[in-house]
Parts: sequence; structure tokens; C-alpha cells
Amino acid sequence: GDLDDKLKPVEKKPGKQAHPRGTKRARDGSPVEETHAITKPKEPRGVEAGLKERQEKRIKSENTKSTPNPKPFGKGAQKGQKPNPLLEARKALPIWPHAQSIRAALKKNNVLVLTGETGSGKSTQVPQFLLSEPWCQKCIAVTQPRRMAAISLARRVAQEMSCPPPGRVPGAKVGYSVRFDNATGPHTRVKFLTEGMLLQEMVRDREMEEYSAIIVDEVHERSVNVDLILGFLKNLLSDLENGRLKKRKNPLKVVVMSATVDVGALVQFFGEGSKESEDTQQTLHSDVSSTLVGTQQNQDISTCYIEGRQYPVQTIYLPEPTQNWVESALIHIFQIHRKEPLPGDILVFLTGREKIEKLEKLVNEYAEGLEDSLPKLLVLPLFSALPQHAQQRIFMPTPHRTRKVILATNVAETSVTVPGVRYVIDCGKSKIKEYRNALGLESLLAKPISKSAADQRKGRAGREAPGKCYRLYTEDGYNGFADRTQPEILRCDLSHALLTMVAAGIGLRDVFSFPFLDPPPRGAIERAVALLHDIGAVTEEAEIANDALTMAKFPLTPALSRVLIEAATPERNCLEDVVDIVSALSTEDIFLNLANEERKKEDAEAARRGFYRRSGDHMTLLAAVQGYLEETSDRKAWCAKHFISHRAMQNVVKVRKQLLELCQRLSLVPNSSSSVDPPTANASPEEHTKRVLQCFARGFMRNIARLMPDGSYQTLVSKQTVAIHPSSVLYGRKTDYLLFTEFVFTNRAWVKGVSAPDVGALEEVMRKVVLGDGDGE
Ligand code: CDP
Repeated sequence: GDLDDKLKPVEKKPGKQAHPRGTKRARDGSPVEETHAITKPKEPRGVEAGLKERQEKRIKSENTKSTPNPKPFGKGAQKGQKPNPLLEARKALPIWPHAQSIRAALKKNNVLVLTGETGSGKSTQVPQFLLSEPWCQKCIAVTQPRRMAAISLARRVAQEMSCPPPGRVPGAKVGYSVRFDNATGPHTRVKFLTEGMLLQEMVRDREMEEYSAIIVDEVHERSVNVDLILGFLKNLLSDLENGRLKKRKNPLKVVVMSATVDVGALVQFFGEGSKESEDTQQTLHSDVSSTLVGTQQNQDISTCYIEGRQYPVQTIYLPEPTQNWVESALIHIFQIHRKEPLPGDILVFLTGREKIEKLEKLVNEYAEGLEDSLPKLLVLPLFSALPQHAQQRIFMPTPHRTRKVILATNVAETSVTVPGVRYVIDCGKSKIKEYRNALGLESLLAKPISKSAADQRKGRAGREAPGKCYRLYTEDGYNGFADRTQPEILRCDLSHALLTMVAAGIGLRDVFSFPFLDPPPRGAIERAVALLHDIGAVTEEAEIANDALTMAKFPLTPALSRVLIEAATPERNCLEDVVDIVSALSTEDIFLNLANEERKKEDAEAARRGFYRRSGDHMTLLAAVQGYLEETSDRKAWCAKHFISHRAMQNVVKVRKQLLELCQRLSLVPNSSSSVDPPTANASPEEHTKRVLQCFARGFMRNIARLMPDGSYQTLVSKQTVAIHPSSVLYGRKTDYLLFTEFVFTNRAWVKGVSAPDVGALEEVMRKVVLGDGDGE
């Protein structure tokens, strides 16, 4: 197609119109660099520059002192065993010389706020520094916003400590715990876990007695969960201090770690008795840098700043904005590959899996036409849903005469350090969760990143040597970015957060005075209360319902937890099937996405037809999961035959097993000996489908839409127009009512996971919705 003209035609004449504006071609058809405005890397500003200088001096002087090494861990080291081969690499990390001061800071105070560039060694080293401290008798928790980082950090630290890899085996001192995957054992001392998992543990044991220290990592990402954790920890620390909770043998230590110099708000947050106005916080952002050098004490909070190693990175902007940044990225990859020497891998920041896979395909296609004299290109995608073994490839050394091209989401911004990168290509966007007020629904949207995110991305090019950062936007575009990414808590649905809070014993009325680093707007909290009311987590009298505690114990959204609870009632009695569907909804798509492969698409349609159900996607998922479970000989072949992702199905089975166990533990299994006559024992297939969909309607009562006379669909509660996503089995069909469990907003409001329940199935819920009982908006 068009792109052929732009990239491959080493011999062909360069097609004029085919080139995106502003990209000149060299004779060989490769784009040339001269067209881009070259900007000198920005000098660090004022305070920061001074700060940097001082820190450099300080680190130099610390480096020349003989640094007391962190004590070796485990008996082996003392017996004069061979030293760990990773020790040298650890010693070279910028954080190494700070080991002693970090320990001293925590000896003195219970809270340490630690900042340092990505890759300076915070996540891997700090837990190891603390492990042998006398106060550290129990486990250390390290939270991560992403499961991928939690798992790979646990593996790395286990290696560094010469321990068996994370798992339930006895002797595994390092473990991880992420949703639906718990690799911790009785001897785990360092536990990497996602923020959500720590919150669940907090709900179970708000005193966190299992832990000696809680390290809250990547705080700068400001996920809702991290904000909740900070609030809970602040409450817990003050309760311990004021004697409201029984005294612990050793105090609980809290380390808050961030990649950006943004400690002011954190220091004030933990330091002050109660939160004051937001203005005080704002001013502190700029002041605090002066107190950051080295380790200092401030209102019983220690702070520590680790200067990372950063080589200069040249920034290159586009002269004109582009809409087509995937193509622009493609052109830049080949431009770099042709002009820049090895070694020097390329890291491309894209918005999500879809764009990554699209670009991956394009790069591989065009790479086939590369002259033999050029090194090979090795394309590696990097996103959270990627399986472990594929993620591990990122960390492997680049093969001889090869250039790695890593196509990543913003996981590579601060969460994962990719070695070998000298060139960064930044599309300037990332997907962020946003609550769409009008729709009353949450969606993921590709939005411009912030300046601080753009600078983080750029920094990835200068970790090992001077580098270059190609920004697929203009300098004006950059100047128009917000300074920082807005915390998620200010723009997302709070019902899950609220459910967690009430389950952890915070009264509904006290939610408003919870110590939030950035308090969400009152309206957002009220909306969340209304939503919880809808699903029966909050009673008419604004009291917490018993079901709320059960719901909070599921690692699911409140709506899906509600669906499970409903399925376990004697009236519905369809828990196992609903668990199958919820498991499929909780993992990646089980049906392989063949949107770009027309020919395969037809074969796939034919192969999958047997699963398709007239009632829609939910019963279709059930049929596919059950088909998979019934297959006992060769499930992999079965998946291939039906164009179903084997990996996704394996995950479904894993999730299903855990959900079933959890249901059992929470006594959600309908009691067959109960006096209520189980009406579903011999239910007809129609009746059964009706009951399953009734469960979903109970959890998703705001997600019901009605067919309008003009053929469009409109949601009952918020009166918004929505369309059935092409991935749905109901795409193109007309039905009186729709019930959907997912919402995506791209060029229009799409709904996914769609079923077409009979009106009869919706009666009960519609009464609630239409009669105003659940209509909060
Ligand atoms: O937390 P921070 O970004 O400051 O650094 P880190 O995650 O502790 O990483 C320090 C170094 O450990 C990295 O530069 C990598 O060399 C190495 N590392 C690794 O090899 N594999 C991981 N999964 C994590 C870190």
C-alpha cells in the first residue's frame, strides 16, 4: 500500500504525496533527519540545577568513602560461599552508597520518603537494605502499580539474594502476590505485590501485623489504589502512635518511593495531623527541593534523594503535528536504523496493545526488505498483558549485529528498566482511565501525556550513554502538555475505592474526611455511593450492607462481585456458569482478534459458530469455556481449531479455580439442603439463560440500553447513545434491549460484552431503574 512507497522502495522512485508532510526523502527513499527541528536538551532549571550539583558532589564524596556494604543475606554468604554474580552490578547502582543512610533514616523515623530516577535501584535494593535490620523481624511488602513489575522484580531480587525463584516452595524468601496468582510461601520475607492486593490484605487485617515494613513504590503514578494505601497507612501510623491500636513489638516502617522530585506533598501528608487546604500543598511542591539534599529529617519524616546517572539526550521534535503517528514511528525506526551505529536499541512509546501489534507487523514486514549490509532488527512488544516469557526477552542481551526495537506502553516509562536503549521515539500519548460523567461510565482513552511523563520517556534514552529522543509532536505541542499527570483519583469511578474503604471499617460518612493526598470532588464520592446503593452494597439508610463485605473480598469490580452474589441466591442458582463467564470477562479476549486478517476471519467465524448464542456474548463465552473444559485430550489443538487463544483459556481456568475457591470460602455456594426449593434444578435452557442474564442485570443496571425508533441504542439511566462493538456476536443485530458489561470510547461510544435479554429478565431491575430507586443522576 501507501507505506510501501514511503519505506521500502530502496530502488523505487520516492512517491511525493505518499510521504507524511515534513518528512523529506533521501535518494534511497529513506527519510532524512534534516527536516526535524533539532533542539538542544533543556538545561535543568534554577533550584533543580543547584540541587543536582550539590547532589553530585555529595554522591562523589560518598563514593570515595568506603561504603559499609549491606549485610549479606542468608547463611550461605557467611559460610564463604561464592559471592552472587549480580553483586557487582548491585554495587554499581546509584542507590548503593546510600544504604547506610537509608537504614539510619528508618532507625530514627518510621516514615521515609525516597526519590530517585528510574533504574537507580530503589525497588530491588531498598528491601534488601532493610532485611537485616534489628526491627525487621517480619515480612517486607513492596507495592507495584503493575503485576508485570511485581513478578519480574520478585524474580530479580530472588536471583540477587541467591534464593529459589518466587513460589510457594519452602525456602523461597522472595515472593509475589498479584491478582489470581499468589507466589508466596511460609518463609517469604520480601513480598512484591500489586497495590490492589495490599489493599485486600488491609481489608483483612488493617493493622498489617504480618509486616515489619511497607514500601510503597512508584507513588508518582498516583493510581487510585496508591492514594488509598497512603491514606490507610497514614491512619494506621497515627492510630499506632496515639495508642488507639495495641502496641507492636517493633514499629511499622513505611517507605514511600517515587521517581520524580515531588516529595513536598508526601512529606506534608505524613507529617501533618490532619489535612489542611490544598493551597498549602501546592506551595510545598516548589519549596521542598531545598531540603532534599541527602537524608534529612522533617517532622519525623525522613527524606532521601538518589541522583541517578543520566547522560545528555538530544530532543528532536516534529516540525508539524501529525495524526498518523504509527506511520511516523515506523519511518523514524528505519531512519535511526540506517543512520545510527550499533549498539543502540530503540524504545518506542505507544498507547496500547493494538497499536503495538500493528506497528510490530509493519516493522517486521519492512525489515524483510532491508539490505544485507544492515544489521537485523529484533522487534519486541512490551505491555502488561504480555506473558512472562515474552516479557523476559526484553532483558536478554541483544544478539550480535542486531538492533532491538522495543514497542512499549507506558510500562517502560518508569516501571520497567529496559537495558541498551539509546533512542526513544515518543508518540506523546498514553491511555488513561477517565470517568465520563455524561455516560456515568469509565473508559480508557488515548490522551496527551504530561511534560513530566514526556521527560521520563526521554530519560530512558540516556541511561547508558548519550542518546536521542524523537518526539512525534511539535515543541509547541510539548509546551501545551500539563506539567504533571492528573492523579487517577480525580478522574475515575470511585465505587471500588469506596467499597474497599467501607469494607476496611471506614463509615460512609467518614469517607469525606479520609486523608486523601488529593481529595476527590465531593460529587464523585456521592456518585460512587449511589452506585454502591444500586448494587446493594449500601442500604436505603446509607448503611453498609452485609453484602458489601463479601463484595470487597473478590478481586473484581463491585459490579462483577454483585453478579456472583446474585448467582448464588436460591432464586438464580447458577453460580458455576456465572463464574465461568466472569472468569472469561476478567482475562484477555479468549477469541483471537482477527480484525486485520480478512481471510482468516471467515474461517474463524465458521469454526466458532458452534459457540455463538442468540442471547449474546455472555452465553457465547460460557459455551466456549465449557467447550474448552470438556476437551480433555488436546486443548491446545482444540484452541487452534476454534481460533481461540490457548493462553487466555489457561488464564480463564486459573481465575475460575480461584473464584470457585473464594465462593466456597465466602459460603457463596447455594446450600442444596436449604428449605428453599431450588427452582433451577430442571430449568429449561431459556429459563437458565434468563437467570444468568438477570444476575448480570443486577450488577450492571446502569448498563441497559433500549432500541430507539431510529435504530440506535440509548442507555436507560443516562440517556446516552451507544453502539454495539464489532467484536460482539450481536454486532449488526437489532434487539429491544441490550445489557453490556464493558464500555469503550474511541471515535464513538461502543459497548462490548453485550447480551440481549428478554424484557422479562429485566423486569425486576427496570423497576428499580425506571421507578427512580436507582436513578442517581
Ligand atoms: O526502582 P528503580 O527504578 O530505581 O530501579 P530498580 O527497579 O531497582 O532497577 C535497578 C536495576 O536492576 C536495573 O537497572 C536493572 O539493571 C536491574 N533489574 C533487572 O535486571 N530486572 C528487573 N526485573 C528489575 C531490575
